[in-house]
Amino acid sequence: MKIFYSLMLLVLVATIAVFSINNNLALSNDRTLINATDSICFNKDIFPLFYSYCATSGCHDAVTKKKGVNVTSYTLIMRGIQAGNPNSSSYYTEMFDGMPPNGYPQMSAAQLNIIQNWILNGAKNDSCQTKNCDTTNITVSGTIQSIVKTYCIGCHFNNKGGGGINLSTDQFIKDNSIAIYGSVYHLNGFKPMPPIGLVDDCNKLKIKLWANAANSTPCDSSNVTYSKSIQPILQKYCVSCHNSTTTKAGLNFTIQAQVQTNIDRIHGAIFHLDGYSPMPPDSSIIVDPCSLALVRIFASKSGVQQYDNSSFSVRPNPSNGSFSFILPNTILPDFSIEIIDQTGSIVDIINSENCNSKSSDIRYSKELAQGLYFARLRSGNDVFYRKFLIIK
Ligand code: HEC
Ligand code: HEC
Repeated sequence: MKIFYSLMLLVLVATIAVFSINNNLALSNDRTLINATDSICFNKDIFPLFYSYCATSGCHDAVTKKKGVNVTSYTLIMRGIQAGNPNSSSYYTEMFDGMPPNGYPQMSAAQLNIIQNWILNGAKNDSCQTKNCDTTNITVSGTIQSIVKTYCIGCHFNNKGGGGINLSTDQFIKDNSIAIYGSVYHLNGFKPMPPIGLVDDCNKLKIKLWANAANSTPCDSSNVTYSKSIQPILQKYCVSCHNSTTTKAGLNFTIQAQVQTNIDRIHGAIFHLDGYSPMPPDSSIIVDPCSLALVRIFASKSGVQQYDNSSFSVRPNPSNGSFSFILPNTILPDFSIEIIDQTGSIVDIINSENCNSKSSDIRYSKELAQGLYFARLRSGNDVFYRKFLIIK
């Protein structure tokens, strides 16, 4: 009799095991579907969803902790997640059971699917960047809305949103491109967004390209002269402190001759080069990229120094993997370099705000496999390409 029961038990256990394996198999097929292009990881895909949809102020943020739930870190999120088992993870199942409450933005089926897959994959605290960053065809309704729906919407879905910023309509997004760009890039004078965590490099780059395009009245850099190009810039940003009555540092920019003799200093101050006082002094005033480019071109023509060596190169080339990018001197302070392999995939992105070097040499320190690459340098409306080879 005892043996009979034991056998029965064994059959039962085996049946359950088979069932749950089947169940997992069905789900893991799903996973390959969403995972086709990129892998899911905590920092890039999961934290932004919990944080934006649930940590809205008054809900599951570090201050309110409604019902004891606070989702502002991995450890805290894991209080309601059971690795490998979505259906026993209350912070996941709640989303099918009234959370976020009515009237708040809801996660899409695809987003819930991403969370489910992450739990099935072990709910790890892993981090990664987007591998194939597609920066073609950037639109507000597609590209920018999708970034907002991952990182922002829970806190910015109506006019009462943080800072009065309502990211639910295309129009509002378009009208606030500078503020969105400034806060995602943590520029001086903007509140860093999201308040905790970062937008991944690929999405940041998309926001930058979009904001640049949205705000560039084409930059007319043909035939740069004092009266046509430089005087209006100084008038806009500088003359209030450098005129005939207020002559800070002894400089009066309403006199052309003074501008001309001090052009190297003006260039150094406006580009925040070492050895010059950064101008304008109020760091929340950002001189637009077109004005910077015009000052640079003008300074190259009339100053003592040459700023217009316009070649972008890689040295040495070929290399054994240890090389530097040499930037053209006309580069704006705000640039990005994408490294593209032979299949056309972007394997790395270097953003100007990640390299503190003010010099025009950027040492590349990560490992790249042997092969042929392209470097695409974007700066304002300019794009430069350089081919380089790594032989190990
Ligand atoms: C957890 C909630 C939360 C998330 C997520 C969030 N924000 Fe905010 N945001 C706020 C709050 C709160 C403020 C107001 C801050 C203040 O005034 O101190 C704010 C302010 C802003 C402002 C005004 C900034 C300024 O300097 O005036 C912008 C623009 C903004 N957010 C954009 C975004 C974008 C874009 C995202 C997504 C990438 C995002 N936010 C994600 C809560 C959030
Ligand atoms: C709000 C007032 C203010 C504005 C606006 C302003 N400056 Fe100045 N500037 C100053 C003061 C004050 C000094 C002297 C103190 C210092 O050097 O930090 C100065 C110094 C300078 C110097 C000498 C610094 C050096 O290191 O040689 C230059 C060049 C200069 N400004 C250029 C500019 C330019 C170009 C602009 C516009 C993009 C500008 N300033 C806008 C107040 C201003």
